[in-house]
Amino acid sequence: MRKGQVNVFILLLFFSLSSASDQRWRKAMMSAYNGSSSSSSMMMNRVGSSILFPVHGNVYPTGYYNVTINIGHPPKPYFLDLDTGSDLTWLQCNAPCVHCIEAPHPLYQPTNDLVACKDPLCAALHPPGDYKCESPDQCDYEVEYADGGSSLGVLVRDIFSLNYTNGIRLSPRLALGCGYDQIPGTSNHPLDGILGLGRGKSSIVSQLQSQGLVRNVVGHCLSGIGGGFLFFGDGVYDSSHVTWTPMSQEFTRYYSPGSAEFHFGGKATGIKNLIVIFDSGSSYTYLNSQAYQAVTVLLKKELSGRSLKEAPEDQTLPLCWKGQKPFRSVRDAKRYFKTVLSLAFTNSGRRKTQFELHPEAYLIISNKGNVCLGILNGTQVGLQNLNVIGDISMQDRMVIYDNEKQVIGWSPANCDNLPKFRSYM
Ligand SMILES: *[C@@H]1O[C@H](CO)[C@@H](O)[C@H](O)[C@H]1NC(C)=O
Ligand SMILES: *[C@@H]1O[C@H](CO)[C@@H](O)[C@H](O)[C@H]1NC(C)=O
Ligand SMILES: *[C@@H]1O[C@H](CO)[C@@H](O)[C@H](O)[C@H]1NC(C)=O
Ligand SMILES: *[C@@H]1O[C@H](CO)[C@@H](O)[C@H](O)[C@H]1NC(C)=O
Repeated sequence: MRKGQVNVFILLLFFSLSSASDQRWRKAMMSAYNGSSSSSSMMMNRVGSSILFPVHGNVYPTGYYNVTINIGHPPKPYFLDLDTGSDLTWLQCNAPCVHCIEAPHPLYQPTNDLVACKDPLCAALHPPGDYKCESPDQCDYEVEYADGGSSLGVLVRDIFSLNYTNGIRLSPRLALGCGYDQIPGTSNHPLDGILGLGRGKSSIVSQLQSQGLVRNVVGHCLSGIGGGFLFFGDGVYDSSHVTWTPMSQEFTRYYSPGSAEFHFGGKATGIKNLIVIFDSGSSYTYLNSQAYQAVTVLLKKELSGRSLKEAPEDQTLPLCWKGQKPFRSVRDAKRYFKTVLSLAFTNSGRRKTQFELHPEAYLIISNKGNVCLGILNGTQVGLQNLNVIGDISMQDRMVIYDNEKQVIGWSPANCDNLPKFRSYM
């Protein structure tokens, strides 16, 4: 991330284009390993077991979270951006690569196990009705993200090396994108690709479910001190301690509990019908112009007469305040910021579910020791009416996306250490 600039980074799939006629891709994936290993998917019914990954990164200053995934035969590690705002997992790929961005590992060498154009996984990556199979034996894709970044490539199958929490290893063949033409977005992360964990069929977890290997549940626990963990399956949490709300059946593209009313300090503000989505690929939270305006006005009102001063010279984020002494942590700044913001979802029928944002969930301390508002104007970055709950507001709690029950849940959690499991091996 470039210092002193607003780091607009939202990994959220904006649209995918059919690019079946793309000439840049040639099938000459020479030297591709055929990958059909005898130790591939164990095909045992392990539903009920979960897969757990440590997560690295933080909201500020890093601005993203990464997970290491081992892919190929022999397995090679890749650092992937954790993104619940899009479905497809892809790696920067030597197909050969037309445009690749500097990455921590050598480019992925694709297998020659191409996903066919007629495959339902391929169809899932294209708008319905709008995709022609000009090369029936391959699936071209193009994904574009809200920050302007994109990846263009072809789907291949390869072996993923994963471990259940009970220690049993599995090596399923899963489809992933071999991305050979990338355009960086407004903020460029030095990673090998993106781990797409959205609601769609092409997501890794949905593919694992269709092989009978795990329940189609994704969850993450991002720690306020950095790091945390990611899991697939439902064995990592106690459902009775989780606040659940149904996923919207109207906004089916993203993880959305539907529309919410914005509350400030426990009181309704009258700002309603906010379409909210949960997106781990966004480091900050974005509200539409109207709600953003309300937050800034109400916070400024709350701070008036206090010894905090606005610090426009601090360009870390659009709104920062300077204290009498530099702040060292959000806890320091909580003398001034006491307000709990919340989003009240009406989707769940009679009972409203509240997603609360304590000051830790909407403030950061900049490297200049100022306190800055981590809620940004979504209208300004082109999100139109979409409101995005980003990593800052999901810290120190588990956020769980259960695609089978079609519910989203959250519960307070200690995300500093990986949950412990007894290994039976
Ligand atoms: C391709 O797969 C077959 C069957 O598993 C195996 O015998 C062969 O060695 C593999 N080829 C390469 C190049 O790895
Ligand atoms: C990604 O995570 C790994 C640990 O899994 C860490 O070693 C690495 O530094 C991280 N990479 C980046 C670019 O953040
Ligand atoms: C899976 O477990 C084995 C041994 O228990 C370990 O060597 C390997 O690194 C683990 N793989 C992953 C992807 O965590
Ligand atoms: C949010 O962004 C929009 C579009 O740039 C702008 O018109 C509006 O004034 C901004 N709202 C606030 C409160 O700054």
